Amino acid sequence: MTKKLVAGNWKLNGSLAANAELVADIASAPEVALVDCAVCVPYPYLAQLQAMLDGTAVALGAQNVSEFARGAYTGEVSASMLAEFACCYVIVGHSERRALFAEQDEQVGRKAAAALAAGLTPVVCVGETLEERDAGLVMQVIGRQLDAVGSVLDANALSRIVVAYEPVWAIGSGRSASVAQVVEVHEGIRAWLVRHCEAPAGVRILYGGSVKPDNAAELFAAAEVDGGLIGGASLVARDFLAICRAAAIQS
Ligand code: PGA
Repeated sequence: MTKKLVAGNWKLNGSLAANAELVADIASAPEVALVDCAVCVPYPYLAQLQAMLDGTAVALGAQNVSEFARGAYTGEVSASMLAEFACCYVIVGHSERRALFAEQDEQVGRKAAAALAAGLTPVVCVGETLEERDAGLVMQVIGRQLDAVGSVLDANALSRIVVAYEPVWAIGSGRSASVAQVVEVHEGIRAWLVRHCEAPAGVRILYGGSVKPDNAAELFAAAEVDGGLIGGASLVARDFLAICRAAAIQS
């Protein structure tokens, strides 16, 4: 594993005009080629981004996917539809989807399976709330979330996912986890992968939660951190590129 993966999570942000400006600024910048770079965008903008990112070093991703392949599931979007728009990645189990849209642990596993079946790489998000951390339950919670994915995916499929450790309390709060906290959890996730995957060394473990230009270097300097999932800072070209640069230096 050489390059770090830096993936932007635009969440519910963007417009045709704003996307055009943001992507024009990042897609041709030299630093994006020094890492594996992706942007995960709202569904309606996939076609726009597919066209804009064609031939660039920035890959396209989505933020959610249906666990179902087709049929009477109003409002759902399947993994094969995402693949038609050249999506390489899809975030599954983001804590906002778990908390606000009642996504369940096993459902996250089924979404990851649907993504893999269509040739996409699922970025499986795991992470604890502050209450769970304060209660000393961090690895118990993350183990439960991973076990649910492991109950759906076999050892070969698990070797083809990306895991993103995103402590809920660090997301959008401006308060990143400390390097020591991140390293400890990433080691725990790696240990889980070693027990369950065919090829655990190839699975990237990203950190996400208030990654900014001023803390990216120290987070990425940790060998256990294979990249980042970037929310707010991915909407500002200058910040996102600075984070890519920090990841490139540590790759
Ligand atoms: P943040 O979001 O960088 O704004 O904290 C990260 C995420 O939710 O993926």
